[in-house]
Amino acid sequence: MPNFEIRVWVDVLAARGAVKAFAGELGFQPRETTELAIVASELGSNIIKYGRHGCLTFSGLEPQEGRGRGISVVARDYGPPFHDLSIALQDGCDDRGPLDPMQLLHRKGIGGGLGAVLRMTHSFAVHPLSDGKEIVVTRHVKGPGARGR
Ligand SMILES: Nc1ncnc2c1ncn2[C@@H]1O[C@H](COP(=O)(O)OP(=O)(O)OP(=O)(O)O)[C@@H](O)[C@H]1O
Ligand SMILES: [Mg+2]
Repeated sequence: MPNFEIRVWVDVLAARGAVKAFAGELGFQPRETTELAIVASELGSNIIKYGRHGCLTFSGLEPQEGRGRGISVVARDYGPPFHDLSIALQDGCDDRGPLDPMQLLHRKGIGGGLGAVLRMTHSFAVHPLSDGKEIVVTRHVKGPGARGR
């Protein structure tokens, strides 16, 4: 399974490109491979911003009835847990609540990454670990559109 260490921004770019290429090999359409590249970018950039450091891995999923093959992307980091995951998944929020518009001038990001990841994938899970956590997302080639569409 390809494993991309994530410590600096250029690491995110490398992982993003690899996910996009692999998704194309699995049979995802170009627009879908771009969405999966965005998913990898978002999860990878969050590792650097909030998870200290970690790694991004991905693998193919066996075909499911009517849904074709799939991809699993795992973002593992060594940072603190989400304060409140359900809030973090909402657009315009950090993991405690809505972002004040004035904060946006001084912080990296608008609190929109995880909401986008949710909409561009079919499943999303966070697994706490003793020394960090693992975020696992999956998407299949066919079947119902990714959530939110
Ligand atoms: N790997 C992580 N570890 C701990 N907290 C995280 C992690 N990823 C995200 N968070 C928390 O969840 C919030 C929402 O994440 P999200 O990616 O949606 O927004 P953002 O990174 O702040 O901004 P954007 O993604 O728009 O650049 C973050 O602001 C942060 O509080
Ligand atoms: Mg983000």
